[in-house]
Amino acid sequence: MLSNKTIEIVKSTAPVLADRGKEITTHFYKSLFKDYPELLNIFNHANQKQGRQQAALANTVYAAATYIDQLEVLLPAVKQIAHKHRSLNVKKEHYPIVGEYLLKAIKEVLGDAASPDIIEAWGEAYQVIAQVFIDVEQEMYDQAKEEAWDEFKPFRVVNKVKESSLITSFYLEPVDGSKVPNFIPGQYVTVRLSIPGEKYLFNRQYSLSDAPGKNTFRISVKRERDHVKEDGMVSNYLHDFINVNDEIELTAPAGDFVLENQKNQTVHLISGGVGITPMMSMLNYLADSQSDREITFIHAAKNGEVHAFAEETQKSIQSLPNAKECIIYETPNELDLKNQNFIAEGYLNEELLNKLIDKNGAFYICGPVAFMKNVIEYLEDLGVKTENIHYEFFGPSVSLKDY
Ligand code: HEM
Repeated sequence: MLSNKTIEIVKSTAPVLADRGKEITTHFYKSLFKDYPELLNIFNHANQKQGRQQAALANTVYAAATYIDQLEVLLPAVKQIAHKHRSLNVKKEHYPIVGEYLLKAIKEVLGDAASPDIIEAWGEAYQVIAQVFIDVEQEMYDQAKEEAWDEFKPFRVVNKVKESSLITSFYLEPVDGSKVPNFIPGQYVTVRLSIPGEKYLFNRQYSLSDAPGKNTFRISVKRERDHVKEDGMVSNYLHDFINVNDEIELTAPAGDFVLENQKNQTVHLISGGVGITPMMSMLNYLADSQSDREITFIHAAKNGEVHAFAEETQKSIQSLPNAKECIIYETPNELDLKNQNFIAEGYLNEELLNKLIDKNGAFYICGPVAFMKNVIEYLEDLGVKTENIHYEFFGPSVSLKDY
């Protein structure tokens, strides 16, 4: 239990930390990786380089400090991060190391302003915050161990299928011959790879893109053309070098962007580009279970050439009694214009959404940040309640406002 004095110090110094949060976390990661380079086998190097992880950590530390006397308010956010930690195999032994380097960074950045009282109060507060994460994560590890496995496990690629000019699917089977475990549509797995010539392992999360209950997992990966080297590194390596019979390592499914069972609500699955992957899992699950819910599947892509799963989506939609599909192409190509396989040209906008949605329904959104930000704004303008809007962010879940 923290003393009133500690709580008071932490709360009153939290704004200072917020102001200089990114500086502190940047400093923190630099010295952490200098002394513990092996942690680079866990962290995403591209997120580090672009400051995304620093911002995510700084925001969370600030929020935790602000709510230090009522941490239960943060539980939904903690759970989301804990899913990510569990899927990356972050362990309770890592927490004291992170705590030590975080305190050191606070001391170094704030200098004389960080009195011994302040440092002591933050040290105590960190332990309380860390314990919340450790407890939530322990439960997740126990559950994963019971239902699937709790660390990394080798999988063999048994099929590799091109879904569009940019997206390719990998069908994966456990090497040890065990069954593929159940998961909730919308969840992701972490893929761990060793890339020749690179010193550290690479971890990336990919949504499972097919319904549960199959003999294999399916992930569907977009080739990145224009990104800085490390951002597309794993995806492009999978495209270029991972083939049938190759092995990659996976952690058990994780994540809380999942299809909920609000039976009487229309379900809207709204995606842009490769954001279609968790939507395929949700749609195919609804199709496999012959759901009689109203379902609206909205997908925005540049054109038919990069539009993945077009046939598969149609098949699932047609097999459902109350489902419709709405495809929007930014710049349809000649073939699209000939086939008229889309309902609108340009971007998904508020006027269009107004025509397509049931405002009392549930909304699942996944796609590029700008796409999600716009769609969420339009839905809120149209009167959709925030609690009915669910979205998945690919990358550290920094607040959408930070973009
Ligand atoms: C991701 C906070 C401890 C390793 C994250 C994210 C946040 C966060 C906000 C982004 C979540 C997302 O992507 O959705 C915290 C807090 C901690 C803590 C507040 C302490 C109380 C740790 C520890 C480790 C760790 C002890 C292990 C050494 C990671 C990794 C990621 C991550 C590897 C994924 C992002 C990346 O690879 O760039 N954490 N974390 N974290 N955390 Fe933590």
